[in-house]
Amino acid sequence: MKILKTIEELQEVRKNILGTVGFVPTMGALHDGHISLIKQARTENDIVFVSIFVNPTQFLPGEDLDAYPRREEADKKICEMCKADYLFMPEISSMYKEEEVLIKAPNKSYILEGKARPSHFDGVLQVVLKLFGLVQPTNAYFGKKDAQQLTLIQQMVKNLFLPINIIPCPIVRESDGLARSSRNVYLTAQQRKDALLISKSLYSAANLIGKKEISVEAVKNRMYEVMETLDVEYVEIVNREFDKIDTIEIGNTIILVVARFGNTRLLDNIWL
Ligand code: PAF
Repeated sequence: MKILKTIEELQEVRKNILGTVGFVPTMGALHDGHISLIKQARTENDIVFVSIFVNPTQFLPGEDLDAYPRREEADKKICEMCKADYLFMPEISSMYKEEEVLIKAPNKSYILEGKARPSHFDGVLQVVLKLFGLVQPTNAYFGKKDAQQLTLIQQMVKNLFLPINIIPCPIVRESDGLARSSRNVYLTAQQRKDALLISKSLYSAANLIGKKEISVEAVKNRMYEVMETLDVEYVEIVNREFDKIDTIEIGNTIILVVARFGNTRLLDNIWL
């Protein structure tokens, strides 16, 4: 695996690649969720790029930009182990200039995650577009855990006619059900235990729906019951376009939950 630190190095390498390119953009602190994305990219492409860039424009003032876990050496080993061909690790100063063409995410990016973190998705789309311009992937891999991010990236690719396939990948969980996240390291032992109620609430929702309950209100009520001891920020049930719905429609529904543990927000969801 070759490490590319500058944009010039990346462009030099990219111009000589003729086969299919799989791309996994990340902010580092790689865990099993990322590993499954890189492995999938490996099986489906001739060449695999991973990027690690803690993107400042998607953090709001007061968020965990400075404290965001950085584990460069461990991350490099993981990428090697997953047989990535190139690891791109640019500096902030090379990715952003003083004056920038800004990306304005659509209105739907100001609900749910975008409401809690206004302008977060503007920053995500801005950096993903830059990375796409550099890597020019055939296929780009994103986890379903960040469901709203995934949907907005799909929309950007469609609206801007980018010739890139966006590949949604399943959520990877710990053996007890907690969705893998780089932010899980912030949890105390007690919070880690309590956090299990998040996935439990999603399983009980799925169970209820399996028994033919299709009322969104009833499903949400059950989830709030399961998580009654948690600081739940929202439970929302939307269709694949992220419109709120009243009735569950199998094949076109996402159940989203966010709960807070001190300063840490944990997201989880299931796609029905
Ligand atoms: O999901 C992430 O890790 C980030 O939002 C992404 C897509 C790498 C953009 O910085």
